[in-house]
Amino acid sequence: MDKACKVACDGTAAIIEDIKRLKEEKKAVILAHYYVRPELQDIADYVGDSLALAQKAAAVGDARTVVMCGVHFMAETVKLLCPDKTVLLPDADAGCSLADSCDPDDFARFIVDHPGHTVISYVNTPVGVKALSDILVTSGNALKIVESMPADAKIIFGPDRNLGAYINACTGRDMLLWDGACHVHERFSAEGIIKLKEEFPDAPVLVHPECPRPVLLLADKVGSTAALLAYASESPAGRFIVATESGILHKMQQACPDKTFIPAPPTDSTCGCNECAYMKLNTLAKLRDCLAAGAPEVTVDPALAARARRSVDRMLELSK
Ligand code: 13P
Ligand code: SF4
Repeated sequence: MDKACKVACDGTAAIIEDIKRLKEEKKAVILAHYYVRPELQDIADYVGDSLALAQKAAAVGDARTVVMCGVHFMAETVKLLCPDKTVLLPDADAGCSLADSCDPDDFARFIVDHPGHTVISYVNTPVGVKALSDILVTSGNALKIVESMPADAKIIFGPDRNLGAYINACTGRDMLLWDGACHVHERFSAEGIIKLKEEFPDAPVLVHPECPRPVLLLADKVGSTAALLAYASESPAGRFIVATESGILHKMQQACPDKTFIPAPPTDSTCGCNECAYMKLNTLAKLRDCLAAGAPEVTVDPALAARARRSVDRMLELSK
């Protein structure tokens, strides 16, 4: 069955028409992360990495509703930046193992146990952790923001130990790291990449900094999803080994139709791809349903919002 026929036969075309109509009716803007399903990236008004999505949310204009096709912490960040708008997440269960690895009460105790530190947190955190932080970072600006701190600053960095260790290695700092990780990026192994490299020796290795150190050491480029996409677009190479969630391959292939992208295999799966199950909870049907129902809506505890917003604003200010 060809693609056009499949779209018509399985009802996808009707869902897409409903989404377009509802989007107009509700004055909604649809944001999507690179890790969500291709069909959601294609229907979104804007697709980006965590930093670009936050920047877009801060400038969303007169839309009444923002739908975040991504995960809960991303929708929370949008709500912090757009408190007067309705923020929807197509599936309320779209969480994040990295955000879950940093409970706000435990993080508060960690800060108390290590006084005198500036607290820098990755945006992949619950709002309670954002409220405890002096400044947030994404994978796209973490290096720049840490480097902007005084050289002798004592820093707590959470929750991703791999990103934190990478920044320590790049800057020569000794930030105190929270012991959290993303279950998707933790699954890449140096062995898997070395095997691919033997098969495709000319292919640069693109690695997200949430990957473990042995994988990062094999990288030709370490960067956020947007940075990896830009590198692939600008590089003269014809094929690339990609060690991050496989959703990014869709945009890479769209941006570089003549190049080949080879997903690095996870260590504990036979599917040959690396998917974030939370991101993949977002579907076209759920996007339509959430627009129609105005739910699931993501809200933020007002007691936390002001403090959390301050750390987001500081990040956006330093990212200009
Ligand atoms: P970036 O969007 O910053 O590349 O981060 C990837 C990620 O894991 C988002 O959940
Ligand atoms: Fe969270 Fe990892 Fe999924 Fe990103 S890929 S949303 S860090 S679980």
